[in-house]
Amino acid sequence: MVKEKGIKELEDLPGIGPTTADKLKQSGYDSIEKIATASPHELAELTGMSVDNAKKAVDAAKQATTLEYSTASQVYEKRRALGRISTSSNALDEMLGGGLEANAITEAYGKFASGKTQLGFQLCVNAQKPVGSGGLGGKVLFIDTEGTFRPDRIEQIAKASGADPKEALENIMVVRTTTSDQQILAIERADKLVKESNVKLVIIDSLMSLFRSEFLGRGALGERQQKLNSHIHKLQKLADTYDLAVYITNQVMDNPAILFGDPTTPVGGNIVAHAATTRLYMRKSKEDKRIVRLVDSPNMPEGEAVVKITPDGIRD
Ligand code: GTP
Ligand code: MG
Repeated sequence: MVKEKGIKELEDLPGIGPTTADKLKQSGYDSIEKIATASPHELAELTGMSVDNAKKAVDAAKQATTLEYSTASQVYEKRRALGRISTSSNALDEMLGGGLEANAITEAYGKFASGKTQLGFQLCVNAQKPVGSGGLGGKVLFIDTEGTFRPDRIEQIAKASGADPKEALENIMVVRTTTSDQQILAIERADKLVKESNVKLVIIDSLMSLFRSEFLGRGALGERQQKLNSHIHKLQKLADTYDLAVYITNQVMDNPAILFGDPTTPVGGNIVAHAATTRLYMRKSKEDKRIVRLVDSPNMPEGEAVVKITPDGIRD
């Protein structure tokens, strides 16, 4: 955590002007913390500044950086105070420990029509409610990679929840992306929007569909996972920096290697599985019923909740 007043940007460090700062940023040294742990020789090589000057910049960055030690009970208090977005189903909220967590990534995976997108719509409306009333009091950024965003559904769900449908729609920013590069850029460029518009929920529906169709075959898998890794890392950073919730959806593929139980696994492999703080497996039951299983959570026991997809949105 950068503590020292006055040193906030790279340009505030001695010997670093705008040009040098740009070069550093382009090479990934985009924060005071990163400079603090960098080698002066490498910085000198990257920017053309002298090693001596680089050393001064690193020292100043080190001084400006302090670590904050907290007791476990302080961490506990902070976690309890974290906001949550209600899903509009008591059973599902309870299973999640109060709803969708801020500062974290929640992944919903399941087959088509299992309700992943519908749950996303409900969260779009609920995120806007005030803190303490099932929301985070903020706006929503919806990255639609499949062309399945439906404003009329938002309108319906908002009306049913007592919100002003017009306002609810105004507070959702939708980006339709058709390539994985667009999807990556939509997140890379989100900082400004998130900060200025007080975005408290970022949705990617779905995370993998574009990656999956563009990177075909085993040869492309390495590159795909690498891009995906940095994409998810950026998402996590957004969640941490702005105390917002991230909701991503993911389809499943049939996995013939599993002989017993449900032979489906979410797309994206370990990278996605490890990045998501909480994972929900959704599957269709009778009619409008859906079974949501909590697969992976840092602090809640595994469990199942039954929800309904109604015209008004998600319900018990
Ligand atoms: P894919 O994106 O195809 O992987 O599926 P998904 O998991 O996102 O499914 P989605 O959330 O789109 O759920 C589709 C289901 O929601 C459909 O089977 C419908 O039964 C239900 N649904 C969609 N719109 C409405 C609606 O307006 N009213 C009601 N009651 N149900 C709806
Ligand atoms: Mg969908």
